[in-house]
Amino acid sequence: MYQNSQDITIRVWDFPTRFFHWALAICVIAAFFSIKAAGTTEGWVANAGIAWMDWHVLSGYCVLSLILFRIIWGFTGSYYARFSQFLKGPASIMQYFKGNHDSLGHNPLGALSVIAMLAVFGFQAFSGLFTTDDIFTNGPLVHLSAGFSKTMTSLHRSNEPVMIILFALHILSIVFYRVFKKKKLVSTMITGKTQVSPENNYVQATDNLRVFIAGLVTLAVTSGFVYWISTLGASSSGSFY
Ligand code: HEM
Ligand code: HEM
Repeated sequence: MYQNSQDITIRVWDFPTRFFHWALAICVIAAFFSIKAAGTTEGWVANAGIAWMDWHVLSGYCVLSLILFRIIWGFTGSYYARFSQFLKGPASIMQYFKGNHDSLGHNPLGALSVIAMLAVFGFQAFSGLFTTDDIFTNGPLVHLSAGFSKTMTSLHRSNEPVMIILFALHILSIVFYRVFKKKKLVSTMITGKTQVSPENNYVQATDNLRVFIAGLVTLAVTSGFVYWISTLGASSSGSFY
């Protein structure tokens, strides 16, 4: 979207969606960093005296809470945050490839990557609940079934390259939009706003105190639920719990 002086500012992402996104990015990166740090035996990371495995489990719980939040928000959030607004069938995806697509929010192809990321990172956090390193750290639901825990531990490990590929595609597509389509998606995800020409009559997303409180309550409920799961079994080597 090229900018011109007639453009108006329009609200696309509400605060809860933006908070979700940047918190998810931080927690996923923290989960990766901490698991790699936990396996390091030399250097400052190993000698820092930090229980990295506990941080891994904690950041994983945060990812799970956030993704559960986003699933609910996909039904209750403001206009562009709703799945019904951006999940389109194959016909719309074909139209998008032909260049016949001009709307705000996620485009039909980007929507697929959003769903893929929610599913893959959500699965990673879910499988973590059943994952064990057979030494100190058990997910809180490991005790439910030894066989299921074995399968989940193996999937928790083998999902790593899938997550890395999705992350790389995510960043590459954002760079592609910036360079070739001149769209500043990152600043829209930070401020929630973008510039459009007025004749398109785009819908404004609602982003007021009511939306903020609804987001806060939803996140409190999903975090409370995940906290409750974390109490169902010994989940880590101990310094947090
Ligand atoms: C592991 C880290 C990350 C994960 C798991 C992740 C995941 C996601 C997800 C699930 C969405 C959909 C948002 C929603 O509708 O709720 C999204 C959108 C977005 N992400 Fe990320 N993200 C990550 C890192 C980043 C980084 C580092 C950047 C900036 C360079 C970024 C920029 C964006 C932008 C601009 C959008 C909006 C795309 C659009 O307008 O359609 N993300 N991301
Ligand atoms: C989205 C969040 C998460 C990410 C990105 C993630 C990532 C990873 C990765 C990549 C590994 C493999 C490390 C390796 O073999 O080098 C791993 C191992 C592990 N994770 Fe997670 N994890 C997440 C959530 C969780 C949660 C919620 C728990 C527990 C409640 C957990 C517990 C474990 C344990 C115990 C291991 C060690 C398994 C082993 O010894 O092979 N993870 N995690």
